[in-house]
Amino acid sequence: MNHLQKKDLKYHWHPCRTLKNLEKNPPFIVKKASGCYIESIDGHRVIDGISSWWCKSLGHNHPRLTAALLAQTNRFEHVISTTTTNQTIIELSEMLVKLVPGMGKVFYASDGSSAVEIALKMSLHSRVNQGEKRRNKFLSLSNGYHGETCGALSVTHGDNFKKVYSSLLFDCAFIEGIPYVNSSNDALWHDCSGHWTKVQDFLQYHAKETTALILEPIVQGAGNMKIYSQDFLKRLRAWTKNHNIHLIADEIMTGIGRTGKMFACEHAEITADFMCLSKGLTSGYFPFSAVLTNNDIYNCFYDKTGLDEIFYHSHTHSGNALGANLALETLKILKEDFDWEAFHANTAYLLQSLQKVAEETKILSNVRGIGMIAAADIKQDAYSPDRMRDMIHIAFQNGALLRPLGKTIYWLPPLNIHKRMIDDLQGITKRALLRAFK
Ligand SMILES: Cc1ncc(COP(=O)(O)O)c(C=O)c1O
Repeated sequence: MNHLQKKDLKYHWHPCRTLKNLEKNPPFIVKKASGCYIESIDGHRVIDGISSWWCKSLGHNHPRLTAALLAQTNRFEHVISTTTTNQTIIELSEMLVKLVPGMGKVFYASDGSSAVEIALKMSLHSRVNQGEKRRNKFLSLSNGYHGETCGALSVTHGDNFKKVYSSLLFDCAFIEGIPYVNSSNDALWHDCSGHWTKVQDFLQYHAKETTALILEPIVQGAGNMKIYSQDFLKRLRAWTKNHNIHLIADEIMTGIGRTGKMFACEHAEITADFMCLSKGLTSGYFPFSAVLTNNDIYNCFYDKTGLDEIFYHSHTHSGNALGANLALETLKILKEDFDWEAFHANTAYLLQSLQKVAEETKILSNVRGIGMIAAADIKQDAYSPDRMRDMIHIAFQNGALLRPLGKTIYWLPPLNIHKRMIDDLQGITKRALLRAFK
């Protein structure tokens, strides 16, 4: 460990880590990052194989985004958004609303979890304003993840993230029996009627008291990069509409092109009542998030004057101008200056490359992928947490930053990754798996 790493461990509490383990594997010190690469102060360069927790839609230090950040800094950096507005936020709001059919308004926050909190609160509050106080429960999908603030954690499934905090959380009902697929070629992707029959009783039981169903459309990220049937999403949407239940599409990971469509909801040709965006929206330059909703929800608040009727989520940084200009520029780049043809070819190549790793190592099962996401599970008999840690270490030494989820390894690189970098990811991952697991 060098002196900076020692100092880091003395003062800096790293998220989501076994802290003692940091002494054995200290964090590497970043000097610069550009495109798909991160470089340490001693000149070691690695591919950011997970887009820095899934946010680097256009990679690091994109020239147009860096310029947008500086340009906005020179104009003004942040001004209170409750009493002011500006051209950037107006243009961004218009662009977002026009991008997502059915939406009418955008409310801003600073990170993914806050966006989820806002959507949950807005749904519940709209019911109160409409005199439907008894609709005050939430439905979510088993294996779903929505962030780690208390509301977001309540609608996140599984003990991993929430067990210790259970006294802070509210109850949520989780839908089981999700029809998972490995790709859109799977028959279940098109027709999941068998699964649907099994969830209906559960849904009916909760229909009357539920205000909203929240889900990650098509891909459950933190829940081991699992892909599910677009037909299931379509059916859930139809069911929520029929029962006057809001649908909250948490597109914080899946949005902004990640699954091969601008938004994952497009795979099922559905629109939600709320859509949460963050991460890739600013290409991970800035903590910034947005909640899109329709005018029906907005109108539940529109002519209200009572203190209980006004929507409170008084974030200091709501609509931060630096984040807003970065989001606007990210969307403009994707619209005007992004090679979608190369992107689609590379998404297919990404999946083929992981399939090749599986064939050559014989350690992986359930190879799956959609858009710029490819994942696979280490076979049960080969897996051990120590081997996985070794694999991460070897991959890193060889030039790739990977961060598996339990037994699942995955690649989720920037959308503009080149083919030759996918080749590098493939070679490095293969070597690391073979050395760690054989
Ligand atoms: C689907 C989803 N929702 C919400 C969040 C929370 O976002 P944040 O970490 O910015 O609070 C995440 C983060 O990984 C996510 O993947």
